[in-house]
Amino acid sequence: MDIRFLGHAAFELKDGDTSLVVDPFLTGNPKAAVEPGDLNPTTILLTHGHADHIGDTVDIAKASGAPVVAIVELAGEIGESGVDTFDPNLGGTVEFDWGWVRLVPAWHTSTTPNGTVNTPAGLVINFGGKTVYHLGDTALFSDLQLVARRDQIDVALVPIGGHYTMDRHDAVTAVEFVTPSVVIPCHYDTFPPIETDAEAFKGDVENDTGATCVILAPGETHSE
Ligand code: NI
Ligand code: MN
Repeated sequence: MDIRFLGHAAFELKDGDTSLVVDPFLTGNPKAAVEPGDLNPTTILLTHGHADHIGDTVDIAKASGAPVVAIVELAGEIGESGVDTFDPNLGGTVEFDWGWVRLVPAWHTSTTPNGTVNTPAGLVINFGGKTVYHLGDTALFSDLQLVARRDQIDVALVPIGGHYTMDRHDAVTAVEFVTPSVVIPCHYDTFPPIETDAEAFKGDVENDTGATCVILAPGETHSE
């Protein structure tokens, strides 16, 4: 299973012909590694409805026919544009022939560009025999440790940029809670307010936790 960083908080998980795309904010993203038309996902997964996450979702879904998984209020807005949706709420799991995805809490706020208020989530994704946890946009909170009680996390995708999410220091504690094998940082260096030192984060993670930190430049891939 390949995890390709598309820039900011956007990732593609790929196993054979199956492609899962998370938070495809590409248009207007100075770090975008691809254009919306370059993607042909099987399923699109959203953490929340802020513009830097919902991004090009509707255009990509219309072009590919991929359904969108998003928390119920966000799925409701996206469904109005004629796109197929799955609409779980926090704690809910949606099963597919490729695996499953569960929405878990994230401490953040969210309103879409169209004004729909929606509760942010993290995504626990079981795919290709691995479990990947995209933390979404979140502050540090103690219940992050509950995710690992249910599922051993192989790869955690962790925001480290600060300002809109936890910073690289709190993110190290989040890694202690989630206990993944591999950590890939995201949501940093896209814009000036979220510039940070990813190499320092990597050093702290590898000193203080049992995880390995893999820094991906936009467009780079980590294989599991
Ligand atoms: Ni956000
Ligand atoms: Mn964000």
